[in-house]
Amino acid sequence: MKSSAAKRQTEYLQTEREQFLGDVLAGLQADRKTLNPKYFYDATGSQLFEQITALPEYYITRTETSMMRQVVKRLGEYCDGVQAIVEFGSGSGERSDILLSALPGITSYVPIDVSEELLASTANGVNASYPHIKVQPLIADFTESMQLPSATPERRLGYFPGSTIGNFLPAEAIGFLQNARRLLGTHAKMLIGVDLTKAVKKLECAYDDAAGVTGRFNKNVLTRINEELDADFVLKNFAHQAFFDHDRSRIEMHLVSLADQRVSIDGMHKVEFRAGETIHTENSHKYTVEGFRQLASKAGWHSTTDWVDDERLFSVHLLETN
Ligand SMILES: C[S@@+](CC[C@H](N)C(=O)[O-])C[C@H]1O[C@@H](n2cnc3c(N)ncnc32)[C@H](O)[C@@H]1O
Repeated sequence: MKSSAAKRQTEYLQTEREQFLGDVLAGLQADRKTLNPKYFYDATGSQLFEQITALPEYYITRTETSMMRQVVKRLGEYCDGVQAIVEFGSGSGERSDILLSALPGITSYVPIDVSEELLASTANGVNASYPHIKVQPLIADFTESMQLPSATPERRLGYFPGSTIGNFLPAEAIGFLQNARRLLGTHAKMLIGVDLTKAVKKLECAYDDAAGVTGRFNKNVLTRINEELDADFVLKNFAHQAFFDHDRSRIEMHLVSLADQRVSIDGMHKVEFRAGETIHTENSHKYTVEGFRQLASKAGWHSTTDWVDDERLFSVHLLETN
């Protein structure tokens, strides 16, 4: 007989296509067309994201990784007694390894991600390297209500690397942090990687690299819709676009329709595009250190300490519940 956790996971997979179709239609039938960025991360999208992290223009991952090697040297002082790490959007889990190797008191690791493939490989990697740690991966959307496995020890550190928090609108980021606080419970701590505001050229190049990998990552969501939702997007009829919006302090990624065209989805739904019209596929908000501290405080967290690299590209924040 299946455990209730296993049953919940099976139900999640069964309703996935239905939800995907509903979200895609709602997004593409809106006045300003959008797609939820979580749909980037099928197996191909996750591999493309891994390639992005190694691009010369994409300073985020290498800066955060090298910062984390320094951060963990002092983290023990602040995280005495922490037994569980709950990682949101764990991806390949590269930095979780840095964290786990530096905190010997950890007995439980719960990686959460929508990408099943990455989640399985991250969980297997942690199992192999840290046999004493109980690994309980959760395939889940971290913007929705979740439950941790019942055996998760009470003293928990949430970990949210990669500046994935920048994908939320500021109000959504506050909502996420409030939910994370409830999920992690009393005594919770949270370590978050946050990308900082900087010269526009550097930001725009990071999301529009010379080799075109980010463009392929952006367009892959259309391939995914074609394959999983029986649609007929013609990829060469769309172009990748990334630009910085000063007023909202964010990079926006779009797919621009290069012609008037009509796309069919799931046989019976038609979506019209005018030449020049875009699908807004992702936001990446950029913060100042103080701006992010203030945002976190609106969600009931206070900043214990934070770290910034020498070039002031990226910040890592350790938060505690008020
Ligand atoms: C920008 S990548 C960062 C990956 C990794 N943490 C890093 O720092 O390199 C975002 C990760 O979050 C996952 N993700 C995106 N939206 C999600 C959602 N709504 N719920 C759960 N996971 C999500 C993706 O599958 C991906 O692994």
